[in-house]
Amino acid sequence: MTRIIAVTSQKGGVGKTTTAINLAASLARLGHKILIVDCDPQGGAGSHGSLKSSAGHGMIQILRRECEPSDTITPLFDDKVFGCVIGSKTPADLIYFESRAADGGLPPLIKALAPGFDYLVIDAPVGSSTTIKAILEVADEMLLTVNCKAATVKTLPDFIRLAQWLRTEVNPRLKLAGIAVTMYRDDDHSEKKILDHFRAKLPRGLFLETIIPFDPNLEMASIRSVPALMVSSARETARRYLDMAVEIKQREGELENGAALDLGDLIAEEISERHPEEGRPDDDSDRTNFRNRRTEDILASMCDQANLIGAVIADRTGLPLAIHNLKGGSADTIAAMAPELGKTLEKAAVYMDQPKANNISIDLDSGDRLVLRTFSIDTTRFFLVGLCPQTIDPAGEMVLAATRLTEELA
Ligand SMILES: Nc1ncnc2c1ncn2[C@@H]1O[C@H](COP(=O)(O)OP(=O)(O)O)[C@@H](O)[C@H]1O
Ligand SMILES: [Mg+2]
Repeated sequence: MTRIIAVTSQKGGVGKTTTAINLAASLARLGHKILIVDCDPQGGAGSHGSLKSSAGHGMIQILRRECEPSDTITPLFDDKVFGCVIGSKTPADLIYFESRAADGGLPPLIKALAPGFDYLVIDAPVGSSTTIKAILEVADEMLLTVNCKAATVKTLPDFIRLAQWLRTEVNPRLKLAGIAVTMYRDDDHSEKKILDHFRAKLPRGLFLETIIPFDPNLEMASIRSVPALMVSSARETARRYLDMAVEIKQREGELENGAALDLGDLIAEEISERHPEEGRPDDDSDRTNFRNRRTEDILASMCDQANLIGAVIADRTGLPLAIHNLKGGSADTIAAMAPELGKTLEKAAVYMDQPKANNISIDLDSGDRLVLRTFSIDTTRFFLVGLCPQTIDPAGEMVLAATRLTEELA
């Protein structure tokens, strides 16, 4: 029997897709054959790498009877991990997909994809929608991904209420595989407090023991479209994902025996209480979060106007906080030089403290160069790094972008 695990989250950007891909790769290492099903039109597993190429054939085409389920299954890695995508991102097609989820077309389709696989790992859309209802109707287990940010804590009660409702009204078989904490920074005071709060307020068993740390190398893995297991610098985190797969398998034993982790009403009420970070005047966790639409727009417009190949916002250790448009070879270049970049930035910061020394340019090879510019939010310094051909001068656009970023986030 195929087990269907839906990887879910109430918020975007909490590591859901990364978890789906790495959990699939880890289950494969444990000897299983996996199909990753990307049901999330917004940056789901299908926007990563080789799955993209199968975009012509996906669930929409099966629903329209234009192809068979087997035509949509693409090998991804290890001969054991395969993928299947929605099949189109046009608004009309996505509305059609949503309407088929509403009229009951999606559950039989998901079941039709299952034969031959030990696990279907579904990258589900965020929040509540008819699509998530349809997915959880056929799922055996739901894995909920969260990060330890204030904004995520606030969304948990809604999601738990949704799961409770689904259990009662739609799928009484649905079990909670666990709540997975991802992107955890143990050196961050506010994240540590939130994790302690989770542990104090919620039954211990709801959370997976395995915690996925914040690891910038995962960003690099996702740019290269591979799981952490295939990136040597991300080996530590790959091991954690392997632990997570083992833990989920162990818990499946318990789940089979009916020891379903219960999502009592109490839980939703308890976590909706004020959490410890609320109202903290010095809580700047969201202010310097560069992964948002405005930041993306600023980077995109800078790259467009100055003909940049791509751009990165990094902190002074070289940790990439936002990346725009670095694909293929250039992503590899940045990945390879990330640790070097950190050292360079640290040195550059010293020079850039001098008046009028705001731009530094580093030649990568005879064709391309990196141009650096600093900006500060409150007292923290960040770097804007542009990758461009030697022949262009992006300084003006970079000044503009740095100013806009400061205004936006200050
Ligand atoms: N543990 C982690 N450490 C650092 N970055 C991460 C981690 N997990 C995911 N990321 C990065 O965070 C971003 C959002 O992750 P993603 O898995 O796409 O989230 P979601 O699917 O919930 O929107 C991606 O750029 C991804 O590479
Ligand atoms: Mg995603």
